[in-house]
Amino acid sequence: MTINADAPLPPVLLSERQIAERVDQLARQISADHAGVDDLLLVGVLRGAFIFLADLARRLTIPTTIDFMALSHYEHGSAPSGAVRLVMDLRIPIAGRSVLLVEDIVDSGETLSYLRRMLEARGPASLKICALTRKPDRLTSDVRVDYVGFDIPDAWVVGYGLDFDNKFRSLPYIGVFTPPAGRG
Ligand code: IMP
Ligand code: MG
Repeated sequence: MTINADAPLPPVLLSERQIAERVDQLARQISADHAGVDDLLLVGVLRGAFIFLADLARRLTIPTTIDFMALSHYEHGSAPSGAVRLVMDLRIPIAGRSVLLVEDIVDSGETLSYLRRMLEARGPASLKICALTRKPDRLTSDVRVDYVGFDIPDAWVVGYGLDFDNKFRSLPYIGVFTPPAGRG
């Protein structure tokens, strides 16, 4: 796969096969934990979680409904670091529903703690969080994540939905991105 003729492909951190096996395990665990739920609402956080959500949703063995929300991270200087803004809300009201929030990555944890607070305030019957990856060394917020795919080292990772500057999302594996020498 060619992303950019000058840029080498990011070295593999998590292979397609490792990801597929872990997504399978997560789906089995989530299906078992929600066995009595007649319609689990999967909430994907755009854009990074779209591929993970698509794979996870197809492996769940319980009935689901899918909705999305989108966030934007404030640039440095314009707000406290870690501040996020809701740019697209859910279409489906979550009051009284069982909800699973699906995220790509937990870095500081600020985004998920914001989302957990916001969604809890709407009175769901239950709210669980599933994140494909987490960087334990970077966490500054003690947000509870119910399902974690992989704990990974403190590096910038791309692929399988994750980007650097909106690139690399379609890479089928998760790799480590290193900015080209002399830039960034
Ligand atoms: P947090 O609020 O610091 O946990 O940051 C979470 C958000 O930052 C994620 O939802 C991603 O959008 C982005 N992010 C953090 N680390 C990475 C990374 O290594 N690769 C791609 N995006 C990342
Ligand atoms: Mg994200």
